[in-house]
Amino acid sequence: MTFPARLERFRAVDTTQRVVREWLDAGADEVAVAVTGYQTAGRGRNGREWMGKPGGALMLSVGFRPLDLAARHAWRLAAIVSLAMRDAAEEVAGLPDGTRWLKWPNDIVADALDGTLRKVAGVLGESVTHGERVDTAVIGIGINTDWQMADFPWAIAPNMTSLRELAGKRPIDNDALLDAFLARIEPRYEALRMGTFDAGGWSAVQRTTGRTVVVEVGDGSISGTGAGVDPESGALLVRPDHGEPVALESGEVIRCRLL
Ligand code: BTN
Repeated sequence: MTFPARLERFRAVDTTQRVVREWLDAGADEVAVAVTGYQTAGRGRNGREWMGKPGGALMLSVGFRPLDLAARHAWRLAAIVSLAMRDAAEEVAGLPDGTRWLKWPNDIVADALDGTLRKVAGVLGESVTHGERVDTAVIGIGINTDWQMADFPWAIAPNMTSLRELAGKRPIDNDALLDAFLARIEPRYEALRMGTFDAGGWSAVQRTTGRTVVVEVGDGSISGTGAGVDPESGALLVRPDHGEPVALESGEVIRCRLL
């Protein structure tokens, strides 16, 4: 398999999610990647918008057409995209070990110099299933690369950071980051095609584990302690302050906060 089968760079686009979905619907081979530095209608999870400062972020969508991936494991595509980008970011930004994590379900977060935990990247998975199988999936990731703190909109600034800030203001090369990402997603996807998921690696980098979490669900919120993640269902496991342990699937969670 040529990897990726298709890769196109756009100076600006509404959303790379639409571009790749249209390619797949028109019969494009996997793996198809659309990359941009600017989106006019970027989409986030739960219907939220996703903003990226022109030139300050790497935004891309990856289109998959898995031969034999169970619909209940569709979330693993988003997980491998997050893991691959986390590792690529570590290499390209030269960040110290143990400072980048995944925050369930798929955010890449990092310990900032001021001690706060901040979001570096977000992942959006949109899949089409056929019976019990995944037919096609578009996984989008937006990672803040060269954004400087002063440029973040005030409403989100306290929770966000970029690789540049984490790397002591060293500029980040988006092309090098893309290459490093592609080099890491290929073996991870190949393994998934062969039926193997890096459950250990995925579990080990979960920042929620052992920490106090507040999870907003449809009819309220659950606070408790993160008790790991379930590599079969993809669920977040929470031991509530009162009551029995619960497994929360990403579809039922509005927001997960770490205290
Ligand atoms: C989130 O954290 O809410 C997910 C954000 C996902 C953003 C990426 S940027 C590339 C791709 N295109 C989009 O419109 N969204 C995803």
